Amino acid sequence: MSHVVILGVFVADTAYRADRMPVMGETVLGNSFSLGPGGKGSNQAVAAGRLGVKVSMISRLGKDDFGQMAIDTWKSSGVTPYIEEDVSSYTGAAFIFIEENSGDNAIIISPGAAANISPIDLEKRKDLIANADVFITQLEQPLAAAKKGLEIAKSAKVKTILNPAPATKLPDGFLTLCDFITPNETETETLTGVKVSTLDDAKIACEKFKEMGVETPIITLGEKGAYLHEHGLIQSYKVGQVLETTGAGDAFNGGFAAALSEGRSTLESINFGCATAGISVTRAGTAPSMPTRDEVEKIL
Ligand code: RIB
Repeated sequence: MSHVVILGVFVADTAYRADRMPVMGETVLGNSFSLGPGGKGSNQAVAAGRLGVKVSMISRLGKDDFGQMAIDTWKSSGVTPYIEEDVSSYTGAAFIFIEENSGDNAIIISPGAAANISPIDLEKRKDLIANADVFITQLEQPLAAAKKGLEIAKSAKVKTILNPAPATKLPDGFLTLCDFITPNETETETLTGVKVSTLDDAKIACEKFKEMGVETPIITLGEKGAYLHEHGLIQSYKVGQVLETTGAGDAFNGGFAAALSEGRSTLESINFGCATAGISVTRAGTAPSMPTRDEVEKIL
């Protein structure tokens, strides 16, 4: 079975649906609330796990109810945890505002114990990473840990994916560790300075990423799909009414990583990621919205 190793964060998502965001000093009445599993790395692990590949998740948790939620979520999704438990900290949480009309979101995340993931945690998992087919990480945990994981994977010739979310300026040379990068439009602008409004902009941004050392840049374009360097747009899948887009990027990355680990081509893997995301946006929540392999195969 192909193997995806994920370095990332679990947090409990506290999601509020309301007509609009309050302004500072104001209280608005919300329409609904839900609590569920989230965190970009964990969501990507759940997505890949439900698609049936072997998934290992490297992270840190507190010893508390949200930590137990992480363990239960991974167990039911076929994800094997490689976790440091940090009794002096807590498992993090995310505030998610979902705009009722559009389904668009705004997020604040406090990673808690996962903010202490260190390069030493990655050194401990060196063999696990070096024997994977794909290593993927995001930027919710410290940059030094992401760098160490990418270095271990790259030197073992394991395919590396960086989902640079949330976007932050990266040190020189960091992107040479990435076989693939999967930013959305705003993350692309933060990293390259190129504002992406059109496919021509995406092409220019991809060229910039190449200059910065990325092997294969992919820019996700929301409802349009994803732009692959030297190919162009790969269309999204529209399979029903859009309910919530919060987990869409993670669904794409989990689906892309799973397909890539099975030896599919970059193009096929992006298409698989788009199909995974296309289903997830028709459902509520982040991790709970991830589809099974059968559901994805059906729409491909
Ligand atoms: O990508 C969506 C995720 O970002 C949410 O689950 C939230 O926890 C934040 O990490």
